[in-house]
Amino acid sequence: MTGAAAVMPRVALLHGPNLGQLGRRPSQHYGTLTLAELEERVRGWGAERGLRVGCFQTDHEGAFVQHVHGLRGIADGAIVNPGAWTHYQWSIRDALETLGVPFVEVHLSDVEARGATEPHRRISVIRDLASHAVWGRGPEGYRDALDHLAGVLA
Ligand code: DQA
Repeated sequence: MTGAAAVMPRVALLHGPNLGQLGRRPSQHYGTLTLAELEERVRGWGAERGLRVGCFQTDHEGAFVQHVHGLRGIADGAIVNPGAWTHYQWSIRDALETLGVPFVEVHLSDVEARGATEPHRRISVIRDLASHAVWGRGPEGYRDALDHLAGVLA
């Protein structure tokens, strides 16, 4: 041992529009946890894996983009649920590409299955940049994302 303190990798947990309304959105897709409860869980799961999780949610595209820009040198990885932006918002993609850290795309609901009647949900403008993607596993999907990042950032 050199005596140097171990530095915990930092993970940004980023949520896009309407995810601040979790707990009020259709429970068959999104469950019953509020965003605050979900963030608390993810922070705890992160700590168990030696990851420090910082949380952010906004309904505003520009605020999201600027927040991602501000993560340079602060976040080592990210978990991103961009909500509806996933399906069309190219500025989110560009911001994540510019940040350049490994990130996991997460969706609470099964966007592939929902795509049978709502085809836009099968489109993701960030999927090919993501180091991993999880959907349809509810809150557990965020734990899967942390497992992935713990491996990548170790
Ligand atoms: C979502 C799926 C999106 O299609 C939807 O617009 C959301 C949430 C999910 O977590 O399942 O707002 O990203």
